[in-house]
Amino acid sequence: MSMYDVDALEFLTEERVRDLVAEHPTPFYVSSRSALKQKAAAFLAAFEDVPYGFTASYAMKAYPHPEIIRLFDEMGIYTDASSEYEAEEAIAAGVDPGRILLTSQQLPKDLQKTMASGIEFTATSLHQLEEYGKAFPGSDVSIRLNTGLGSGYVHRLTTGGVEVGFGIWYHKGDTRSQQIHDIIEKHKLRVKRVHLHIGTGTDPAVWGKLMEAGLDAARDFDTATHLNLGGGFKVAYMRGDAQADIGAIGEIASRMLRAFYAETGRKLHFEVEPGRWLVAEACAIVSTIIDRTDTGDEGDDFLKLDCGMGEFIRTAMYGANHPLVVVPREKQERGTSKYVVIGHCCESSDVFTVVPGKPDEIQPRLLTQADIGDYMVVEKTGAYCASMRTKGYNSFPEVAEIIID
Ligand SMILES: Cc1ncc(COP(=O)(O)O)c(C=O)c1O
Repeated sequence: MSMYDVDALEFLTEERVRDLVAEHPTPFYVSSRSALKQKAAAFLAAFEDVPYGFTASYAMKAYPHPEIIRLFDEMGIYTDASSEYEAEEAIAAGVDPGRILLTSQQLPKDLQKTMASGIEFTATSLHQLEEYGKAFPGSDVSIRLNTGLGSGYVHRLTTGGVEVGFGIWYHKGDTRSQQIHDIIEKHKLRVKRVHLHIGTGTDPAVWGKLMEAGLDAARDFDTATHLNLGGGFKVAYMRGDAQADIGAIGEIASRMLRAFYAETGRKLHFEVEPGRWLVAEACAIVSTIIDRTDTGDEGDDFLKLDCGMGEFIRTAMYGANHPLVVVPREKQERGTSKYVVIGHCCESSDVFTVVPGKPDEIQPRLLTQADIGDYMVVEKTGAYCASMRTKGYNSFPEVAEIIID
């Protein structure tokens, strides 16, 4: 087996890992400012030709680190907040409230107070629309619609379609759609923005369909000046996975917006809300291999890390696989071997190597030969890792989050 069969480091080097570990006790998250900047610049470049105005908003739920929020803000990226608390954190990080759009499943506890900060609001249900209308009659509003289209890596990452309760179920002409129009009329609201988000893992063909659905809704809500298609730009975590072709997505959007203008005379401002795509590959977890065990001839070799499902839930929850890179404690040529990698909680779900999409089925992975005291880098952990960590289980302390250049 050649060393090229094993996963590789993204933005770190082996030396850098050893240096970092000398300064910081493992486990810790480490993000790279230059990798984040590169990602953001590439993303913006893909949408340069969007014809009638374009805004990318960082879905901060992916990784709400204040420095990351600020870094994107400084590059002209707005912020997508998924709760009033995220909006507050973005404001505290220095983001102008006028550049924050709140699209939350939970209505702010005090809507008047939250909106007084100057952020914009998307109603994600009829109830939210009604409450917003009562509180702010005569104002602009955004509506998040579920047009029945969904796309995700697994069901748990799909946020549109009949089986999910996010957004207002919407089909032009049906009674639900009429209810939206009724609430809007009753409170003299103006729909400024039509908002859709269908999941996480959409490819260009699906973006075309999503765009069609969004433009159809914009035909129905003729006051809309903004079309927001949410996030869901696919990231290739493992070799062989597909990465979203953002260039192709940008082209589809531009073409369809131009056609919409030719048909209706309306120039829609186009918006997207990337989370994962901007941060996933710019952050890693650095951990130490703290133990080894095996389960005999019929079983597996296990490596146990000093982190686990508390710091990183994606494998246990979705069956997601992330690249795993063994860094020998001291520089050394090594062969390879197959291991099951597990975390430090006594839970059979606390595992890093499974059959993709099947959290219950462990699958050994070919790694550089490893021993207790070596380091393990869990790669591409910028999105929905630190932000989804749990607190308190086994009373393990909270891990540090380091940002390097
Ligand atoms: C409304 C909205 N926008 C953006 C995102 C970000 O998605 P992703 O990180 O896959 O780009 C999400 C994620 O669920 C979302 O619900």
